[in-house]
Amino acid sequence: MSNDNMILKINNIEVKYHEVILVIKGVSIEVPEGGIVALLGANGAGKSTTLKAISGLLKHEDGEVTDGSIEFMGERIDKIVPEKIAKMGIVQVIEGRRVFEHLTVEQNLKVGAHMKKKDGRSIKDGLEMVYHYFPRLKEKRNETAGFISGGEQQMTVVGRALMTSPKLILLDEPSMGLAPLLIHEIFNIITRLHEQEKISILLVEQNAKLALSVAPYAYVLENGRIVMDDTAERLRENPDIKDFYLGMTDFGGRKSFRDVKHYKRRKRWLT
Ligand SMILES: Nc1ncnc2c1ncn2[C@@H]1O[C@H](COP(=O)(O)OP(=O)(O)O)[C@@H](O)[C@H]1O
Ligand SMILES: [Mg+2]
Repeated sequence: MSNDNMILKINNIEVKYHEVILVIKGVSIEVPEGGIVALLGANGAGKSTTLKAISGLLKHEDGEVTDGSIEFMGERIDKIVPEKIAKMGIVQVIEGRRVFEHLTVEQNLKVGAHMKKKDGRSIKDGLEMVYHYFPRLKEKRNETAGFISGGEQQMTVVGRALMTSPKLILLDEPSMGLAPLLIHEIFNIITRLHEQEKISILLVEQNAKLALSVAPYAYVLENGRIVMDDTAERLRENPDIKDFYLGMTDFGGRKSFRDVKHYKRRKRWLT
């Protein structure tokens, strides 16, 4: 997969918190220009940390990329401040759909416009685009964000990200805690956004089935390491992925991916 249509290249990074807690141990991920790539993994695997390493938000949590590099459109970004990374066209939708609760939906969206890329669209055009994809937000635009439903809050934070005119969206568990119908609606919109606005997406999900339905390629992260990466088609057929990530409802009963019986480390170049 390695060639130069990659909008994002993470090369063998290591991430530490507070200079001592090693959380990411040699992760490499590539996202093609205009592509959707999923990053799967159980709770605590290091998915959010990986996204924060890209967006630079890690620095606010006393975390640091201590080895390897991250390139966005051919430029090193792993030592750059988050504000500058945002201006280059990367936006992270952090997990837990944090809206500004006391602001209206539309005010929340306008906050996004203030972090936008230099050559981004105007606030008016941005709002129009967001309301085109999320007609529900248009209906709720004057409501206080703290009082709308969880699904609408998720739409608001994705909409706020769109207001920055991003080239790459880092989406952290957009399905978390939402009802199936709403998840379906949000994922449909994400797919349309990607197709029509040509936005590249790195999608983090614990829900592998859902992620593999929209992303043609995925990586599996466990304990800070990529243990597998392949096309969605092949991952869906992989017995270990089926066993561990697909169709499992009992989260508490999960074994380690490494303990799954037939598991073999599969390298891209061997398959
Ligand atoms: N700010 C932090 N300081 C120290 N450790 C952290 C911090 N944030 C996350 N971690 C640790 O890093 C590991 C990976 O966390 P995270 O990236 O949030 O995983 P995931 O998103 O896959 O659930 C966890 O063990 C977590 O406790
Ligand atoms: Mg997380």
